[in-house]
Amino acid sequence: MTQAPGSGPPPVVGLRREREVLTVALDAGRHVVIEGPPGTGKSTLLRAIARDSGRDVIFVEGNAELTPARLIGQHDPSQVLAAGYTPATFTDGPLLEAMRRGALLYLEEFNRVPEETLNVLITLLTEGEITVPRLGTVRASPQFRLIAAMNPFDAVGTARVSHAIADRICRVVLGYQDEAAERAITTAVTGLSGEPVDLAVALTRATRAHPDVRMGSSVRGSIDLVLLLTGLQRLRGHSSLDRDTARDATHAALSGRIRIADGCDRTPESVLDEILNGLWPAPEDPAADGQQGGQQDGERPGERPAGGGGKAGGPPRA
Ligand SMILES: Nc1ncnc2c1ncn2[C@@H]1O[C@H](COP(=O)(O)OP(=O)(O)O)[C@@H](O)[C@H]1O
Ligand SMILES: [Mg+2]
Repeated sequence: MTQAPGSGPPPVVGLRREREVLTVALDAGRHVVIEGPPGTGKSTLLRAIARDSGRDVIFVEGNAELTPARLIGQHDPSQVLAAGYTPATFTDGPLLEAMRRGALLYLEEFNRVPEETLNVLITLLTEGEITVPRLGTVRASPQFRLIAAMNPFDAVGTARVSHAIADRICRVVLGYQDEAAERAITTAVTGLSGEPVDLAVALTRATRAHPDVRMGSSVRGSIDLVLLLTGLQRLRGHSSLDRDTARDATHAALSGRIRIADGCDRTPESVLDEILNGLWPAPEDPAADGQQGGQQDGERPGERPAGGGGKAGGPPRA
């Protein structure tokens, strides 16, 4: 659960202003919520700041099962039977651990945490201490900070975080980065570059702009797509990317990551075929009707013309 400072998170691409604000907020003793869609670098940013400042981070996944006892800690029932309620029978949860050690408590999916559990935090944020039944009052070390993270567009099992909480923390908002930054991120994570990265990032970004898609893929989709593209290319013994490989990799990397708009009865695959076709038109083929991408499994589409960038050529170039 603990990330030791210095253990290998990737370098942060961009986000300079957000990083400055978050650093200063933490130095000033403030608690912070980082808001942004999945994959926009919330955890990466937090890890980098923790590493730079030599702080420990304790990670907690927020969900409906995160009760106050799970967050704070609890007495072990069998030990209580033997010894009664003593501090020794109490096992610290992540909150008490972070408070005692002066660590950052990174609470992800903050808006999925039950209200009862969030209420524990209200007192803590105001008083710097909490009172635990049959344990007593625990005071937070001065270095303790709460860093919450959430996706503001998360519609599953979420409630609005109450004003009482919001009034006690600062807010840093992250959004999708531009295309060049997403290429740099994909390269940093995969160690790959060039045409497969350009194609993967372009395809992934296009899912966010497509009218039939409610929620497009994050840069995590680009990262997986590059790995599948290059891996398939290797497995198939191809010296250059071909469209069939691009299509297989795109379906596998992105179809589960996009959400089709309500009321639209298309499949993710048909949308992805359309997007691929826009970026890398299928070769002239009577079976290809553009909209559906045309190819049947087993068909061998033409290789992308060498050099790319032509009219019916490969992925777009920068
Ligand atoms: N600004 C960034 N710099 C470096 N890597 C990033 C950046 N944004 C996202 N990533 C990479 O994308 C993936 C998702 O990032 P993450 O920080 O886990 O997103 P979030 O916590 O917002 O869901 C990780 O592999 C991460 O390395
Ligand atoms: Mg995260």
